[in-house]
Amino acid sequence: MDDDFQDVHTALMNCKHERRKLACSFNRKLILTSIVLCTATCLAAIAIFFLSGYNVHTFAVNDIDCQPAAQTVSHAANQVTPRVLCMILTTPEKWQSKGRAVQNTWARRCFIRIFFYSASPGVSINEAVALPVPEGRGHLTAKVLAAFKYSFDNYSDRIDWYLKADDDTYVIWENLIEELMKYNSSTARYVGKTLPTHLPRGYNSGGAGYLLSKKALTYLLDAPPSKCKKDGGLEDVDIGDCLAKFGVYPENTLDADGMLKFNSDNPLKVMQGQNEGLTQAYYIRKGHVSFGNPGPNAERMFSPQTISFHYVEPEEMFMYEFLLNDLKRKDIGRSYACVLCSFIYMYNL
Ligand SMILES: *[C@@H]1O[C@H](CO)[C@@H](O)[C@H](O)[C@H]1NC(C)=O
Ligand SMILES: *[C@@H]1O[C@H](CO)[C@@H](O)[C@H](O)[C@H]1NC(C)=O
Repeated sequence: MDDDFQDVHTALMNCKHERRKLACSFNRKLILTSIVLCTATCLAAIAIFFLSGYNVHTFAVNDIDCQPAAQTVSHAANQVTPRVLCMILTTPEKWQSKGRAVQNTWARRCFIRIFFYSASPGVSINEAVALPVPEGRGHLTAKVLAAFKYSFDNYSDRIDWYLKADDDTYVIWENLIEELMKYNSSTARYVGKTLPTHLPRGYNSGGAGYLLSKKALTYLLDAPPSKCKKDGGLEDVDIGDCLAKFGVYPENTLDADGMLKFNSDNPLKVMQGQNEGLTQAYYIRKGHVSFGNPGPNAERMFSPQTISFHYVEPEEMFMYEFLLNDLKRKDIGRSYACVLCSFIYMYNL
């Protein structure tokens, strides 16, 4: 009886011991597995963050620290920076205020920049070219064609692109260059903000600024008057109409979210919301309808790849110039913040 009891007791003790051993080894495995899984998850999260280029779309506040790596665009094999000639149309009345503001802000970055005005008796601008065309809105087509001709005749040997802009257009140069790198300038290209009216495939807004590659410009300049209007119409429509006759149509310049890069409006006016239709047009692109002060949670109104604005006053140009190029911001630990951002982004916190 005693022996039997002893055996059972030993058996029970052994069993307990075995169980504990089992439990212990199980715990150890669990802990090790957890550590390995955690590390792998963390590494994967960091890898995903860097590989995906982290879309900052809804994180306006984090833009400073979490700028994605330069957007990967398919550059044409020609990696050389496109050489752009800027043709800026002004008038003797607007030269001192508007023309000079353009001259002293964004136009400094043009490969070549030329200001044009229509010659009239008793007026001259030393730093601008007088074109032999009548002044006035009714003669804008002739003025632009003459400016294109002058620019092409004198500089075609060293220019890839011709930008037509007004003295109230503001251009964010780096973004323009980024856009142009996508195209082969030896082919006929017509790049700007496409308006869908007047022509079956639309035309590019004059005020937002548009560009012609050298090839496209040769079509325009060589076209006979029987084929293309040389004066009297709406300048930007006439240019689009002429190019369409050679099979050259506006390029799609919307960003990945369908937002405009070239804008034919003043950004402050869009934000102020006094013109509801205007503000609405910008918000609707993001599925948002809201007027006036967009508030802290508003979606972006403008593309992060914005290239141009129109109806920009001289003082605004100097302000953009300061904000975009001169203002220094303190680096508050970019990489650390970015890893944090990636987690917030992934878990939608
Ligand atoms: C650009 O276009 C021209 C004319 O069509 C062509 O000869 C050239 O190979 C193109 N260049 C690239 C890099 O595709
Ligand atoms: C530029 O070309 C125009 C013709 O379009 C010509 O009248 C003018 O003299 C040229 N200017 C220079 C500096 O070569």
